[in-house]
Amino acid sequence: MPRRKVSVIGAGNVGATATYYIAEKVIADIVMVDVMEGMTQAKALDFLHSGPMRSYDGPISGSNDFATITNSDVVVITAGLPRKPGMDRMDLLKANTAIVKTAAQHIARYAPNATVIVVSNPLDVMCHVVLSTTGFAIRRVIGMAGILDATRFRYFVAEHIGCSLSVVHAMVLGGHGDQMVPIPRFTTVAGIPITELMDQATIERLVDRTRKGGAEIVGLLKTGSAYYAPAAAAAEMVEAILTDRRHMAPCAAYLRGEYGIENLFIGVPVILGKHGIESVVELDLTDDEKQQLLASAAAVKKGVDELHTFFKVN
Ligand code: LAC
Repeated sequence: MPRRKVSVIGAGNVGATATYYIAEKVIADIVMVDVMEGMTQAKALDFLHSGPMRSYDGPISGSNDFATITNSDVVVITAGLPRKPGMDRMDLLKANTAIVKTAAQHIARYAPNATVIVVSNPLDVMCHVVLSTTGFAIRRVIGMAGILDATRFRYFVAEHIGCSLSVVHAMVLGGHGDQMVPIPRFTTVAGIPITELMDQATIERLVDRTRKGGAEIVGLLKTGSAYYAPAAAAAEMVEAILTDRRHMAPCAAYLRGEYGIENLFIGVPVILGKHGIESVVELDLTDDEKQQLLASAAAVKKGVDELHTFFKVN
């Protein structure tokens, strides 16, 4: 089998950590690209120096030249500014649109067959920038966030119950913002919905902490946002696509009528495989869940409208 290639654009905390997690899966050659001179080269060497101890091989390389992403199977975009205390993800829209658009132009040119995973925030809106700039098929542009938001919910549930993280699964729909929609009915411990295991007030507390999970870390770090869990979520998506694993998880997908939402990227459960999004899974939601999802979609739509107004991005 020919070797697969993954490129990571932006080698800051999220990009470098994603590179490390992908390297440990031993599923692809990895290229990091960043505009910062020397940084990707240094980090690539440092990763290679750890390889003998961490049981992975190269090649991992770093460069400032986008041509090195040529013929990538998957490209992960992490480039952009992270959140600082007091900012919400939408505050990053202006700065990151230009950065993500440039990355998307290079992807269209050098890696026209790649599947693109968008991590830069506000990521549901940035998915629109990538889709319109590359002109790729919609199944090949996917936003990472539902997996991150769900893993935070999984952790909070496991911590509360006092059980292994591995038996907790969670579903979080909607945009990657304060109006994301954790679904307790579809959040389980060893197959048991948490609605059977805890009272409503506890569930609401864990849901609220999940919604504010990113902000909690921004508040503690002060200089940026989370990176271990975001990177792990991106690496899980890369693995599902490269190995055609058909992993089902929430991701930002471009909807064309599913869930009553048209022409918008929003987090919904999808099956990830070699074509990117193999299918969108439509759940039967209660009226309350539907209302929450539509409110979250309206918040994402507001960001997309800003793109049209300020940046003439379609
Ligand atoms: C977070 C940022 C990365 O949720 O969006 O941590």
